[in-house]
Amino acid sequence: MSFSLYSVSGRDFIGRHKIIEELVKELASKNRIGFSLSGIRRIGKTSILKETKRILEKKGITVIYISVWSIVPLTVDEFTKIMNRATISEFQKKLPKKFKFEQLLATGAKAITTFLQNLKLSSNVAQDLEVSVSYVRKESDDVEDAIKRSFSLIEDLSEMTGTKSILIIDEFPSLADMTYGTKNQKIGTQIIQLLRTLFEDFKHTKLVVSGSFRDTLQNLVAKERAPFYKQLLLRQIPPFNEDEFEEFLKHYLPELKFQDNTKAQLYKISSGVPYNLQLIGKEIQHMELKKIDKKILDKVVCSVLKKEGDYSFKEFVSSLSPSEIKVLKGLAKSPGLAPIEISRQEFVDENSVNACLNTLEKKAIIEKIKRGRYRFTDNMFACWLDQNSL
Ligand SMILES: Nc1ncnc2c1ncn2[C@@H]1O[C@H](COP(=O)(O)OP(=O)(O)OP(=O)(O)O)[C@@H](O)[C@H]1O
Ligand SMILES: [Mg+2]
Repeated sequence: MSFSLYSVSGRDFIGRHKIIEELVKELASKNRIGFSLSGIRRIGKTSILKETKRILEKKGITVIYISVWSIVPLTVDEFTKIMNRATISEFQKKLPKKFKFEQLLATGAKAITTFLQNLKLSSNVAQDLEVSVSYVRKESDDVEDAIKRSFSLIEDLSEMTGTKSILIIDEFPSLADMTYGTKNQKIGTQIIQLLRTLFEDFKHTKLVVSGSFRDTLQNLVAKERAPFYKQLLLRQIPPFNEDEFEEFLKHYLPELKFQDNTKAQLYKISSGVPYNLQLIGKEIQHMELKKIDKKILDKVVCSVLKKEGDYSFKEFVSSLSPSEIKVLKGLAKSPGLAPIEISRQEFVDENSVNACLNTLEKKAIIEKIKRGRYRFTDNMFACWLDQNSL
């Protein structure tokens, strides 16, 4: 069986039946409803989006998937290029004549109108392309119009081809960092506002966004003053439940025998995070294990953390404050420790401990079990913190 650290879809995609069913049903319906998916890092958001795309495409719906992280540098120029390229390529089969976005860019400013005419596109589509291309070629500096046309291209192509389409924007909160022009002026929040207004009027296109920074995503979609307030259905992606965990084992490690309650321990240490299961599974395969007990599982986890821990967590930790790290280390060392005890153990004053617990919960690194008691949402991270001196 082949393990993967990339997003998965199709045969290797495990579980998530309810959310996939809901997404597919709503997005394929006539309702004008979009979604916002949130969930901690590596919980499987992108995989859910890609699996949904795969199923919707079988129903003849055009799905354009874009990850904001793939836009480098995160400028309007690059964004427009990537959006248009993805849109044209997804609509390719439905267009009268095949062409690529690069061909448009390579066509001289004077020839472009004739070029577009020859493609037999609707006048709206031709205009969308003309306007956004001229911005990318720096023949125009109307940045808002360029973005507007880039989004409208999806709607207008849908109308022209008589199809429905879905725009998926993965890592959506990062859009807020987008810049434009030679001085790198910020334009992110304006774009998000614009996106909202456009989608309000779109009749053929629906929007799905996703992100792992729960707080930022909430500011964009869930708060009363947020641009997308009440426009998108919010869905949080949880860890694998026990059935999904069982399904994962059956598919990826069908031969492995568990001794005593090692299976339950594996579920616990992985926190049901699919990425952790892929990493641990890969190591079990690498060690050619046929059976596993508690001691061997500890060894496997240790080895995974040694190989992948730094790569997985170091950069992430660098985004946290020193007090947050201390609080996390305290919790990692003694799970379930009360704030006052963390304060004593880590020499951080109690108010700061509480403030940190609060921000860490907002970032979904820890979750509250009951008043004053927290646990890690990713036990592998806790393990790594406990084993490493930072
Ligand atoms: N349903 C699933 N079945 C099997 N493996 C999965 C599933 N969902 C995710 N994975 C695995 O988990 C890892 C993370 O998946 P994915 O990239 O979809 O998560 P993500 O939430 O988008 O992560 P990130 O926060 O890095 O964007 C990958 O190794 C992927 O193969
Ligand atoms: Mg992702």
